[in-house]
Order: sequence, then C-alpha cells, then structure tokens
Amino acid sequence: MSAAYERVKRCAAFVRAKTEFVPRTALVLGSGLGGFGDRVQVQAVVEYRDIPGFPVSTVPGHQGRFLFGTVGGEPVAVMQGRVHFYEGYPMEEVVLPLRVLHELGCTRLVLTNAAGGIGADLEPGCLMLLTDHIASFVPSALLGPNLEELGTRFPDMSHVYSQRFRALAQEAAGELGIPLKEGVYLQTTGPNYETPAEIHLYRAVGASAVGMSTACEAMAARHMGMEICGISCITNLAAGLGNGPLSHEEVQETADRVGGQFQDLVERLLQKLAALD
Ligand code: HPA
Repeated sequence: MSAAYERVKRCAAFVRAKTEFVPRTALVLGSGLGGFGDRVQVQAVVEYRDIPGFPVSTVPGHQGRFLFGTVGGEPVAVMQGRVHFYEGYPMEEVVLPLRVLHELGCTRLVLTNAAGGIGADLEPGCLMLLTDHIASFVPSALLGPNLEELGTRFPDMSHVYSQRFRALAQEAAGELGIPLKEGVYLQTTGPNYETPAEIHLYRAVGASAVGMSTACEAMAARHMGMEICGISCITNLAAGLGNGPLSHEEVQETADRVGGQFQDLVERLLQKLAALD
C-alpha cells in the first residue's frame, strides 16, 4: 500500500472511531454556504485539527470541520471549510479530505464556491451550475505516484459533472424560482485576483467564471469515480469587467446576500439526491 493511501486510511479510521455514520454525499461549503450547517440534522462533528496530520485552513473566519448527518433524507458529510492551494498546501493535501470522505463511504460530491463572473450573462449574486471546468492553470491534483487503490493512472475527464445531477439541480432551481445559469469554471492558484488581461485570456479559452478552488477537488473525486455536482455563487464581475478594484469584502458581502437562496437550492438538490438510487 502506498504511503499516501495509508494516510487516507489512517485519517478515515480516526473519523470512523468517532462516528459509525456512513455518508453517501460529500458537500463542500464555499462562501455563502457557511450557515448551511443549520440545515443538517447533525449526528456527529469531527474537527479537522483533531485528525492527526490533517490540513487545517489558515484563512481567517474559515471553519474547519466535518459534519455528519442528513439533509432531506440524504446521508451527508459536510466540509465546513476547505484548504486551498494558495495557502501553500500541495495539491495532495488540498484533496486529502475528499479522499477520506470517499473512504468513509461517499460516492457523490456537491462542490460549492464563490467565483468571479466572466460570461456576459453572469452578474453578482447569481448562481451558476458547472458544466465543465478548466484546471490547466493549476497543477494536477493527481501528480506523483498514482493511488491505485483509488483510481486509474490516466483517468478520463470527459464528464466530470454528472448530467443527471445537473438535471436535478435545474429541477430544484425551477421549483424554487431561482435562476440557475450554467457555465465553465476556471481555477487559478490565487491568492491574487486576476488582471483584466488574464480575464480576457480566460474568456477567450471558454471560461464563464473564475475561482481558486473546486476544479482540483472535482478532478480528484472523478479519479475515484465519484458522481459530481458543482455550483458557483457569482460574487463579483471578474477583473476589468466591473468598476473599481476587487476585494474579499465584496466577495463575502455578495455571498452573504444570496446565501439564503444558495442554501435553499442545495437543500432541495440533496432532497432530490436522496430519492436517487
Ligand atoms: N477571481 C478569483 N476567485 C474569486 C473571484 C474572482 O474574481 N471572486 C470570488 N472568488
């Protein structure tokens, strides 16, 4: 067994010793979904800092823990807080929590994030369903020896975001009267926001939105054969498309403003996932 996989097993065993709960869907909470924990019927909480060797976020205000429980009948493992590549963690660390959740039973993944809007149809406050992503501007999450126990050396990435999950997300949005745009998410390393020239480039290569997470996580999850849904909260117009400089405060302000809607959508989606085999 590789050292990397042994580490995944060790972390999973630590969590398993704290709770017998078997989740089916992993949910990563991005900006705007911080309050989603209130919608989980929580059965167990495990702090990242208690798990030996587990990466812990350095971003002020970011929580760091797993919630295990149910939402709308779906057994979930919620990541309240994630670590980012820009914090200095290697990609292998960034995706470790998802590998642990897969080891604990998750076969499905709902990823959420805040992103800057590039597409002409995207304005601050709207939600965007990911149809695909561009991970070419960050190192692959799968560099290094392949974890054979998890997946193949050369995994296919033709269909990262599940067609049936996308349909259910649109159905959920329709029922709630929430417009749900669709587009391609491009990941940068961050932590700086982009220059207008970079945004020009990203638009030219087909990006609808830009952010600093998610694509690497989706890639690692797809490697393990997980079925994935991704939703971005468009918190700002990307650099050069709006007025004035970008700021983390603006991102958080918008995320908080539409947080209730975002939570409604994710909750309804999980209800629908619960009904799927
Ligand atoms: N760029 C990168 N990441 C982001 C942005 C952005 O404009 N907004 C929220 N996260």
